[in-house]
Amino acid sequence: MPPLSRMPNPVLHPLLFVFQLLQWLLDKILSPNPPDPRVPLGRPKIAVIGAGITGVTSAAHCVGHGFDVVIFEAGSKDNVGGIWSKVNNTSSLQIHSLMYRFHPSVRWEGGYPDRQQIISQVRQLWERYGLDTRTKFDIKVNRVYQDDRGRWIINSPSNGRFDGIISAIGTCGDPKVPEMPGMDRFKGEVHHSSKLTGKKAAGKTMIVIGGGASAVEALEFASAEGAEKMYILARSDKWIIPRNPVWDMLLALNIFGQETSFSWIPEMLLRKLFYRDLEDLAPTNRGIFTDTPMVNSDVMDKLRSGKAEWVRCDIEKFTEDGVLVNKRAKGVAPGGPGQKVVIKGDLVVMATGYKRPQLSFLPDSCFEEPYVSPNWYLQTFPPSHPSISCINCTYKNAIGTVGNWHIGIYTRFLLMFLVDPLTRPSSFWMKRWIDMTRLLKFSSPVGAFDFFTYLELVWWFVFCVWFNPFRWKWALFVFFGLGFMLPRDVVEVEDQIRNGLGINGDETDGRDLGFGF
Ligand SMILES: Cc1cc2nc3c(=O)[nH]c(=O)nc-3n(C[C@H](O)[C@H](O)[C@H](O)COP(=O)(O)OP(=O)(O)OC[C@H]3O[C@@H](n4cnc5c(N)ncnc54)[C@H](O)[C@@H]3O)c2cc1C
Ligand SMILES: NC(=O)c1ccc[n+]([C@@H]2O[C@H](COP(=O)([O-])OP(=O)(O)OC[C@H]3O[C@@H](n4cnc5c(N)ncnc54)[C@H](OP(=O)(O)O)[C@@H]3O)[C@@H](O)[C@H]2O)c1
Repeated sequence: MPPLSRMPNPVLHPLLFVFQLLQWLLDKILSPNPPDPRVPLGRPKIAVIGAGITGVTSAAHCVGHGFDVVIFEAGSKDNVGGIWSKVNNTSSLQIHSLMYRFHPSVRWEGGYPDRQQIISQVRQLWERYGLDTRTKFDIKVNRVYQDDRGRWIINSPSNGRFDGIISAIGTCGDPKVPEMPGMDRFKGEVHHSSKLTGKKAAGKTMIVIGGGASAVEALEFASAEGAEKMYILARSDKWIIPRNPVWDMLLALNIFGQETSFSWIPEMLLRKLFYRDLEDLAPTNRGIFTDTPMVNSDVMDKLRSGKAEWVRCDIEKFTEDGVLVNKRAKGVAPGGPGQKVVIKGDLVVMATGYKRPQLSFLPDSCFEEPYVSPNWYLQTFPPSHPSISCINCTYKNAIGTVGNWHIGIYTRFLLMFLVDPLTRPSSFWMKRWIDMTRLLKFSSPVGAFDFFTYLELVWWFVFCVWFNPFRWKWALFVFFGLGFMLPRDVVEVEDQIRNGLGINGDETDGRDLGFGF
């Protein structure tokens, strides 16, 4: 956002003016102050794994509240920003930036920032909070374990000892390019959807394999480049929702986080108002609250114009000049009967997704059946270790966003657990919360934690603060990052009382032991 003196004219651009003003206010009220570089930061000390938006944001919150951090990033300095540092220059947010506020100080210039703006905001955050001096690059974390005092070690003791861990390794690792029969015979070019920068599509017919968000983005790239014709070869039907913040927020407000007997209403509205003549593309066999929908409106216009064609099919093989597919009718499941058709093209884009980074570096105790991620406390804390939070890397599907307030809220939950033993959940209660959520969502067509909505996430947070009275004093801090000194002072008094009673003498021991309430 420009400084207030360069705010947009409120008469000419009223909405943009209000958005900029809102961002300025949020920054002023909610951003913790960056640490003074001359003052050493204290314990608990946190290891953050990954320097994408989640890692940088959570580290900024930690140092902003006075806790020391070290970020371990597998990539180089160029990879600050994580997946956004590895995708096309033309990539941009599909959801509105109102919902992509990964830190209160983020300042978007408009509704749908592109990759460059996102990277620039992450880098500014990283530098503003002095994280450039606290990041270790080219270190892939492959083992996390505890010393005999319960402190965490990352790969080897030479990297230091930590009281808490934030794993922020994301869900999009290396590009996934499945080997398909005949690929080597194809005379045209084949590229992964994240490697399109600089590629020429003008006058060409482009075939996109895959029917997810990257496929739709590849379509935008081809259209902007002047491709002659585009095909999307989609194996499964996915919901597409409009690129409109009102729609997206309303859908995220389903507090049950699953299909309900009212889900036909948004589904019917989407079919009638958004899909309209393209209703055939809307999934029939899965509800909107089961899978992450794609957020895009342009794709509908391109399909209507005839420039692009959506083909529901399985890939049989590549031919010299295209791809042989088994085209299926609506309602026929992948692998079902269909009609063999060759789709001819000059350029194939593999929009087949990304390999998922693995959390296998965590101790085995984090993966005790049936409490395996994403079936963890608040979805991010393994029930055996309240000092570990795996933010934005355990989820499978959701309606909401990866880049919002919850990064800060999860970080502050962890800080609260580390600082205040009476708020720390025991393994027993963490498991009961997971069981309760499974019970509440027993009728969901997918696993209880395999899909959630943003309002459901807020309910989880509110419930967990409300459930334990020792957490009440932390509520303003956990939700908004405010008033840290007050609960901290109360904890000191509580500590004195507990020490007087002979409970837990050492300040650093036991940060991974939940007392429960
Ligand atoms: C093109 C594109 C567009 C997107 N658009 C949206 C959108 O509109 N809205 C939305 O909500 N989401 C969107 N996403 C999803 C995107 O993943 C998130 O928005 C967000 O960038 C994820 O950030 P992250 O920090 O959690 O993970 P990442 O950005 O993936 O960062 C993880 C980091 O961890 C590092 N790492 C991984 N494993 C290790 C290890 N073992 N040791 C050390 N370091 C490790 C990686 O190198 C990486 O730098 C989009 C994704 C893509 C690819
Ligand atoms: N701007 C944006 O918002 C944006 C842009 C790009 C990516 N993203 C995010 O990045 C993540 C990844 O998205 P993505 O679209 O790259 O991946 P994705 O959602 O995993 O979609 C991959 C697609 O490829 C298909 N596929 C995979 N292997 C196949 C095979 N062997 N044969 C035929 N089809 C195959 C999948 O079909 P099945 O479904 O049948 O498996 C699916 O349609 C998501 O979180 C997404 O939201 C966001």
